[in-house]
Amino acid sequence: MPKKNQEKIFQEWPIFDAEDIEAITKVINSGKWWVGSPGDPRGEHTWRFQEEFASFQEAKHCIAVANGTVAIEAALLALGIGLGDEVIVSDYTFFASASAVVATNAVPIFCDIDPETLVMDVDKVEDLITKRTKAIIPVHLGGNPVEMDRLKKLANQYNLKIVEDCAHAHGSRYKGVRAGNWGDAGTFSFQASKVVTSGEGGAIICNDDELADKMYSIIDCGRMKNYFSYAHFTYGTNYRMSEFLGALLRTQLKKFPQQHKLRNENARYFLKKLNEIEGIYSMKPTPGTTELGWYVFPIVFNPQKFGGLTKEEFYNILNRNLIPTDRCYPPLHSLTCFKDINLRKGIDYSKANWGGDKSNDARFPIVSDIYTRSVEFSHTLLISETQAIEKVINVIHSLQK
Ligand SMILES: Cc1ncc(COP(=O)(O)O)c(C=O)c1O
Repeated sequence: MPKKNQEKIFQEWPIFDAEDIEAITKVINSGKWWVGSPGDPRGEHTWRFQEEFASFQEAKHCIAVANGTVAIEAALLALGIGLGDEVIVSDYTFFASASAVVATNAVPIFCDIDPETLVMDVDKVEDLITKRTKAIIPVHLGGNPVEMDRLKKLANQYNLKIVEDCAHAHGSRYKGVRAGNWGDAGTFSFQASKVVTSGEGGAIICNDDELADKMYSIIDCGRMKNYFSYAHFTYGTNYRMSEFLGALLRTQLKKFPQQHKLRNENARYFLKKLNEIEGIYSMKPTPGTTELGWYVFPIVFNPQKFGGLTKEEFYNILNRNLIPTDRCYPPLHSLTCFKDINLRKGIDYSKANWGGDKSNDARFPIVSDIYTRSVEFSHTLLISETQAIEKVINVIHSLQK
């Protein structure tokens, strides 16, 4: 049931109704709680969700998995990424975009962002390529696409794989192509805050039959289609999605188009109002964006125009006003984890552009500066009543001194 928070004007999340409850109840009553495997399917919903999500994202294949983190890991493994390889990742993203690289025994290399679009700056990628580079993970932060045509050209030139991290980009489209279809694979998250959610959950999309088979095998204990279920052909693990998640995602996905439309309509209004305030801007859609998913979206302010307010003070004021907001992801290079050059036993991180003294803001000047003067809003603001958007604009106006 749609709920509103205390102030009753901001939409709460998730939104669910009798259809979702019925879907879960049916799974319980069916006694088929397990997806099974391609050679021995047991459930129905996760298989059908895979088809429905592939169709929604306009991809040939979708492989449903337990969460968005292992989606990235499985995609990298299927593409042959591993020990000794370097993978270029945006510095401005959730931890998982890089931890998945670490999980494959490869080394993440961080790339600074564009100050306006706040996504990976494609102009900075080439300088990070070495003879060890094997892949790039562009992250479509807040649903805003990375310049995929230019990135793909570069990847082709250096024979690099691309795994698009689309955890924020359900429904985004760049130059007419849905996010996730520009690269070799695109990965999604259905974690609780995401715009399509089942609490946890993830998916990988791709358009290559052989790669899809490899991914199925990796997420299902090395099994292969049409074989007995104790036949294991390659290294694989269990990253399967349960039937409960599959069933819930099917009903949640049906609700997405209408919410997506509303987010886009309200985003236009919100941005127009926000841009009228001096000294503040929202993440600018990347030129060439034809559809934007609007997950979380950062706004960047100039402290001088706001009486010297710090990020924390700015955030606290919004928070006190019950506005659905957050502090944004700290740049990856600044995380304690990526100061540790001995992160995993036996892996050589000495050539990474992070670790010890190298985890220095001066190496990543744009993201380091942006982080100190930005906060982000949840997509729930964009499915709230107009009154909620007006309130946010008024609160921001009131902070100007
Ligand atoms: C950019 C990004 N990538 C990957 C993930 C990982 O997804 P999950 O939480 O489903 O593992 C997230 C989750 O928030 C994310 O924001």
